[in-house]
Amino acid sequence: MIHTHHYDALVVGAGGAGMMAAIYLSRNPDLKTACISKLYPTRSHTGAAQGGIGAALANLEEDHPEWHAFDTVKGSDYLGDQDAIETMCTEAVDVIVELEHMGLPFSRTPDGKIAQRPFGGHTHHFGEGPVRRSCYAADRTGHMILQTLYQNCIKNGVDFYDEFQVVDVMVEGGVCRGVVAWHVHTGDLHVFHAKATLFATGGFGRVWSITSNAHANTGDGPAIALRAGIPLEDMEFYQFHPTGIYRLGILITEGVRGEGGILRNDHGERFMERYAPTMKDLASRDVVARAISQEIKEGRGINGKKYVYLDATHLGADVIENKLPDIADFCRTYLGIDPVKEPMPIQPTAHYAMGGIPTDIDTQVILDAHGTVLTGMYAAGEVACVSVHGANRLGTNSLLDLVVFGRRAGLAMERFCRTAEMPGIPADPTARTEARFGALLATESGGEPAARLREEMQDVMQDNVGIFRTAAGMQHALDKVRELKARFAKVQVMDRGKRFNTDLLEAWELGNLLDLAEVTTVCALNRTESRGAHMRDDFDKRNDVEWLKHSLAHVEDGGPIRIDYKPVSITRFQPKERVY
Ligand code: FUM
Repeated sequence: MIHTHHYDALVVGAGGAGMMAAIYLSRNPDLKTACISKLYPTRSHTGAAQGGIGAALANLEEDHPEWHAFDTVKGSDYLGDQDAIETMCTEAVDVIVELEHMGLPFSRTPDGKIAQRPFGGHTHHFGEGPVRRSCYAADRTGHMILQTLYQNCIKNGVDFYDEFQVVDVMVEGGVCRGVVAWHVHTGDLHVFHAKATLFATGGFGRVWSITSNAHANTGDGPAIALRAGIPLEDMEFYQFHPTGIYRLGILITEGVRGEGGILRNDHGERFMERYAPTMKDLASRDVVARAISQEIKEGRGINGKKYVYLDATHLGADVIENKLPDIADFCRTYLGIDPVKEPMPIQPTAHYAMGGIPTDIDTQVILDAHGTVLTGMYAAGEVACVSVHGANRLGTNSLLDLVVFGRRAGLAMERFCRTAEMPGIPADPTARTEARFGALLATESGGEPAARLREEMQDVMQDNVGIFRTAAGMQHALDKVRELKARFAKVQVMDRGKRFNTDLLEAWELGNLLDLAEVTTVCALNRTESRGAHMRDDFDKRNDVEWLKHSLAHVEDGGPIRIDYKPVSITRFQPKERVY
């Protein structure tokens, strides 16, 4: 059965960016706004962000948005667009105050201001040493943001469609006309018709086997966009967070190092002193993740294994229980160790996509290097590439990106909805979805389960398109991903029912992951330099002459991936060598 809904504005995704946009839109009672989410909203992955949100509040020491912008540009390995970065770092201060006024329970300084802690790559005086810039709510900052935004959405009367999986975007004649969604409870398709549609669907860490990302982070937004003819920007840049729990990938916040935690190898050595003499354990994430991997590669992992220690035992029970209670709980629950008394075994974990759907500074989706806008479509948060993170994101800048660009999305969509006419609905809007679902259900026996294909994809991507990359390894991964795509044509969905068919959902999600694994690898093979999180053994230097540019990957009508380029916006900070 097909149901049709009409709205002025649609928000797809109920994480930080989506709900911030929904709050702004719903302040206008005359604009009908809906928020569609594959999960119950407070289960969105924003809730997993731990250590803080960056803003130069200067609550504990001198700080300025200009310093924050410089650190972000340097962290991005000069690939971030500086106009967007300046906007984000300037609006950061005001948006934190706004969150506080919405009711967010930040941790406090002794005199009652919002508490701030150091984080990787954030410095004072343009690189002189760590600065306390991360505003935090213990190590539950994302969780608190999510709860606060959800409460405000409920107060404003936003229409939520929970556990609705968006499966297609309706684009015709250069105009976005809404989305098609699959209601997980009933298996029915719903057409959501709207003037303005925001994609705020999050990331795709589930491409890799060791990841901090939740099961639901399967890149549905970028995969849907790619299939609809929208390019993806800078997909070769994927961040590995330095400290995930060994073998589980669960995040151990950088806030541990912000509070003074130290990384140690098998010799007990504080090895970051060799890699980053000034910032040490608080260098930027790509540098720290590479250093850990290098130590492991050279046999200095603990007992020769693939992990090192994150040591917080000198911080004392008070700091750990009060400022880092969740990570203490995770270690006790999942590892049976007490971080007050023992070091934590950690390894880098796939964490965050710097690339995504290209947008302008007002979150409008753009289709090419000339900035051609896709009318009525917006993207914000991890799914988008505006690009404020360039080749490597600094910790705390993801939550900031969500709320700054979520707010800008809400404002831009409101302006658009005030003047735009409702576009028509394309003929047979669910045809593509029905064909795709039909294909997934076509193999009745003898096919392979999605779980097996997914595991093979995750393993090959982890081993070859991770922290250190070579042409041969990436080519091997690409061949394997393409083999898996061929085998996916015969994936077998055992559950033939309509209600809560998570077997069908996981098969559909795997299709998205495979598309993104392919495009990530093609873009990584194409970029013959090392920059930020993209580190190639065979091209181990940054090459600004040839590669100071964004890549845009297009797939038209299921054809091969084509890459073209977009210039980087440079305002104040000329590229220079990056040392920490
Ligand atoms: O380490 C963390 O708390 C993660 C923060 C982030 O990814 O920004």
